[in-house]
Amino acid sequence: MPRVAYVNGRYIEHRRAAVHVEDRGYQFADGVYEVIHLYRGRLIDEAPHLDRLDRSLGELGIAWPVSRAALALAMRELVRRNRYATALLYIQVTRGVAPRDHKFPTDTRSALVMTVRPISEFPAEMRDEGIKVITIDDLRWARCDIKTVALLPNVLGKQAAAESGAYEAWMCDTDGFVTEGTSSNAWIVTADGTLVTRPAGPDILRGITRQAIIRIAGDMGLTFEERKFSREEALEAREAFLSNSSHFVTPVTSIDDTVIANGNPGSLSTALHGRYTEFMDSAPLALSRG
Ligand code: PDD
Repeated sequence: MPRVAYVNGRYIEHRRAAVHVEDRGYQFADGVYEVIHLYRGRLIDEAPHLDRLDRSLGELGIAWPVSRAALALAMRELVRRNRYATALLYIQVTRGVAPRDHKFPTDTRSALVMTVRPISEFPAEMRDEGIKVITIDDLRWARCDIKTVALLPNVLGKQAAAESGAYEAWMCDTDGFVTEGTSSNAWIVTADGTLVTRPAGPDILRGITRQAIIRIAGDMGLTFEERKFSREEALEAREAFLSNSSHFVTPVTSIDDTVIANGNPGSLSTALHGRYTEFMDSAPLALSRG
């Protein structure tokens, strides 16, 4: 069974799937994307992801390539054709194909590409040992709330992390406050047990996992503060973790080579990961059985 991609209405063998050289996503990074976790056959938080896609498109004046209902059907057809139980569904919409010219083209259809990439389930060593993070300057633009495919600072940050043996880079604003990771939101737990993450303004992506964690923290009766925290505060935190659709709640046990607390994943991070997994188990199956 070859892996299958979706390109503008067609289901194509993944290794042959391609877009035109004048796709504006390729020429200008003029496009947006979403990553949805397919977890044991369930699309996690599908509606909030499509709501965010709608918002990203709206903020940039890019038209929906197909209706939302048609997209949901195509997503399911792609999942069906790929036959993976656990995977990442990637959805990308660009302003379409047009002769290279910065201003918006007229009469151009938005382009839609989707892929499904099989992944292994949450690695045990990430859960048991946590991951390392470095901090770097946040070099991005002023609208990080839009999930655009313009990810060069994120790419450079992730590469810097990899080169220093870390898994993620936490970006810091000019005042030394952590904004977010290159592909994740950043969290700490303070000495008094308060869960802290940066407010969802234009300087970070409003993570869908972040929203789910806030809801779960409320259900658990945790003290939660949406406020900025500095790199120094993070180094002295009782716990730290990151969140995203691919790795849910991932404990952070070292920042810039400083061990966080006793170096083991924190109890709150572990509990939130467990509750998030229960939440995923309760999501509806993407495809009806039979
Ligand atoms: N990244 N911040 C940034 C910059 C991100 O790229 C992501 C997600 C998040 C977390 O958002 P969510 O919880 O909705 O996944 C925060 C995806 C996974 C990616 O680019 O692969």
